[in-house]
Amino acid sequence: MRLEGRRALVTGGASGIGAAIAARLAAEGAEVVIGDLNDDGAAEVASEIGAAAGHLDVTRPESSIELVAEHGPFSILVNNAGTDEFGFFTDTDPGQWDRVLAVNLVGVLACTHAALPGMQVAGYGRVVNIASEAGRVGSKGSAVYSAAKGGVIAFTKVIAREGARFQITANAIAPGPIETPLLMGALEFGELGEKVIETMKAGTQLRRLGQPEEVAAAVAFLASDDASYVTGETLGVSGGLGMV
Ligand SMILES: NC(=O)c1ccc[n+]([C@@H]2O[C@H](COP(=O)([O-])OP(=O)(O)OC[C@H]3O[C@@H](n4cnc5c(N)ncnc54)[C@H](O)[C@@H]3O)[C@@H](O)[C@H]2O)c1
Repeated sequence: MRLEGRRALVTGGASGIGAAIAARLAAEGAEVVIGDLNDDGAAEVASEIGAAAGHLDVTRPESSIELVAEHGPFSILVNNAGTDEFGFFTDTDPGQWDRVLAVNLVGVLACTHAALPGMQVAGYGRVVNIASEAGRVGSKGSAVYSAAKGGVIAFTKVIAREGARFQITANAIAPGPIETPLLMGALEFGELGEKVIETMKAGTQLRRLGQPEEVAAAVAFLASDDASYVTGETLGVSGGLGMV
């Protein structure tokens, strides 16, 4: 029960990694609020784990502000909402760049901007950003996504620097290929999607896909006081995929 007395916002908690994070933080004693576009999915996960759910569209900054005003202040923020549109970069268009950056990068800025003032007043905070190994090594078929995730890693370091005097830590997690609807959705793109998943799997030392619970365990560590002297880091949870 490392997180007793803490209030946590998990964005994108209706599915995949976010649902596992919400469940793990709740199991460790946190009061969890799931913010997601998918209201039914968020309500379902919330009722299973004894959490609350609130509507959140991370691409609309006013939506983050409303959610924090209604359910905050939060001592833990997990920026997990994310999406991708697979395809070679030459086949993408500016509309796709906007959509992918809006969720994966601007969404992280918006939620952090909304949640940080409450942490500053409390003199305590834990920000955990779900980036990706794609943001460190670059993922074929995910150019804009990789750019966004690289941005999240750099942003995390700045929040670690600026948050330090308020006892706020900020860390990122770089998952490798994790078996969720997002990753398996790549299969809809046929051969390229299949190849991406197989290549990622082969690129891990452990030669397998990860499970959402394996990412959630790392988030719980970074959100807890066990990680009180850890800030500005990017922790790979990727079976060794991003090892240098
Ligand atoms: N699955 C992987 O292999 C993998 C690898 C590296 C990083 N990640 C990252 O992990 C995070 C979770 O991914 P996942 O695989 O669980 O995906 P998922 O598709 O299963 O879940 C994503 C969740 O985000 C929500 N969401 C999407 N757009 C939103 C918006 N505008 N506002 C609020 N919520 C929104 C969705 O409704 C969904 O519930 C993402 O940031 C993703 O980039 C995933």
